[in-house]
Amino acid sequence: MKKTVPRIGEHLVVAIDGPAGVGKTTVAGAVADKLSIYHIDTGAMYRALALKAIDEGIDCLREDSLDEIIEDVVIEYIPQRGGYKVLVDSVDVTDRLRTPEVTRASSDIAVHRSVREFMVSLQRGIGERYDITMEGRDIGTVVFPNAQVKIFLTASSIERTRRRMIQDNISYNPTEFLRVMNEIEARDLNDSQRIFAPLRPASDAKIIDTTCLTASEVVEIVMEEVRRNWDTS
Ligand code: DC
Repeated sequence: MKKTVPRIGEHLVVAIDGPAGVGKTTVAGAVADKLSIYHIDTGAMYRALALKAIDEGIDCLREDSLDEIIEDVVIEYIPQRGGYKVLVDSVDVTDRLRTPEVTRASSDIAVHRSVREFMVSLQRGIGERYDITMEGRDIGTVVFPNAQVKIFLTASSIERTRRRMIQDNISYNPTEFLRVMNEIEARDLNDSQRIFAPLRPASDAKIIDTTCLTASEVVEIVMEEVRRNWDTS
């Protein structure tokens, strides 16, 4: 259904879901720039909580221990031009979020229901106040099931490994390539087999196989979806 006039108080949510390394951040960031709205990377929030758990020496597989952290941790996501900052208890941790240890731990903590409820309420709070692109695993299915635009990006695991190595500045050699590919595939398995909010496309999402597309081509397809569903004039 084409929506030309947004209701008062209603905000645009462009939900962009998909597996690791598929290019969600590039696409969600570029679409946000084009529309002059905020880009919210929900993976960074899970990573921030995982980092807090690691710093506190907590086992990320134990939900009861994580519950204690959730009770009083303050995670702040601050969108900035061309990126974002994440604060945990007022400390900027942005530069510490992309280590292999945090990456693994973020997928581990994300299986727990209480962690997901905590994150979903944080994320809905942002979407209720601003027009956003929001990237993650469950944005179109759970966080914003009524999002005006829902995109699910896919790509072959070889292509996703190549993109991840470029994004994380890892120089190519066959051993590193296999290590990164194994990490990506293990994480996708963990993210899609969990009981609560598993990685999967919403039934009404537009699925885009990006394996043979450039980032600009994907952005243009997403922009077309936005124009069909939201008055951008
Ligand atoms: O997008 P990312 O690679 O930074 O996400 C890190 C982990 O966080 C991912 O493996 C699973 C979890 N995650 C999630 O479960 N739901 C989201 N909406 C975003 C991330």
